[in-house]
Amino acid sequence: MASSPQTTTPPHHVAIVMDGNGRWATRRFLPRVAGHKQGVESLRRCVKACADRGVGVLTVFAFSSENWNRPPEEVSGLMQLMVGALAREVPRLNADGVRLHFVGERAGLSDKMVAGLVLAEQTTAHNTRLILNICFNYGGRWDIARAAAKLAEQGLPMTEMNLDRAMALAHVPDPDLFIRTGGEQRLSNFLLWQSAYAELFFSDKLWPEFDEAALDEAIAAFQGRERRFGQTSAQVSASAA
Ligand code: IPE
Ligand code: IPE
Ligand code: MG
Repeated sequence: MASSPQTTTPPHHVAIVMDGNGRWATRRFLPRVAGHKQGVESLRRCVKACADRGVGVLTVFAFSSENWNRPPEEVSGLMQLMVGALAREVPRLNADGVRLHFVGERAGLSDKMVAGLVLAEQTTAHNTRLILNICFNYGGRWDIARAAAKLAEQGLPMTEMNLDRAMALAHVPDPDLFIRTGGEQRLSNFLLWQSAYAELFFSDKLWPEFDEAALDEAIAAFQGRERRFGQTSAQVSASAA
């Protein structure tokens, strides 16, 4: 890592794989769902911290296309938690100027859940302080394949720009900082297309423990990186001068 910061600007778009809820609960001899519940608290704190630090977009991975493979009681616990969290958290998020987007496959979700997602998006549509994308029943491969299918259906050429526009996060720029908590160093099918030039940061903290100080550590690491986008270091320094 560089000794002096390359920038003091916060990342505009932060993406987070919120991992480690299950281990957090297991270590406390609690059911895994208790960890997910604590994960909601951690997300609430993180949303506020991001808004306070001038982050414009926060995109979080809440449920992957592959998480359906978990034990049925954990899957149903996660679904119930989501429905409950929508009802409870949306008024507060709305008051805090947060605009919600739900990203992912809606087929397969309950009618109640889909109604909650749509209502949350409508209720917060006018907000501008922070965009919060919640990726639920999302997979990076699903996103790319769906975008390609859309273009084929519309008879449009399969260019990078067209794919980009057909993708689920077309309403925001690509993530600048990609954080994964929980100690694993893998993408697990999150934002495969959009993270081409994101700076990666892996935290050993479990998601329920990821607090303001941990976020600041990730942001400081980001600010110490030199983003070259394929150029040489000399070119980057020259264009910054
Ligand atoms: C992430 O925490 C939340 C979801 C995948 C829904 P995990 O549940 O994967 O927690 P660990 O990795 O088992 O500790
Ligand atoms: C990624 O975590 C998905 C979410 C955080 C929602 P997982 O716990 O599902 O990832 P793997 O299975 O360890 O790769
Ligand atoms: Mg996990």
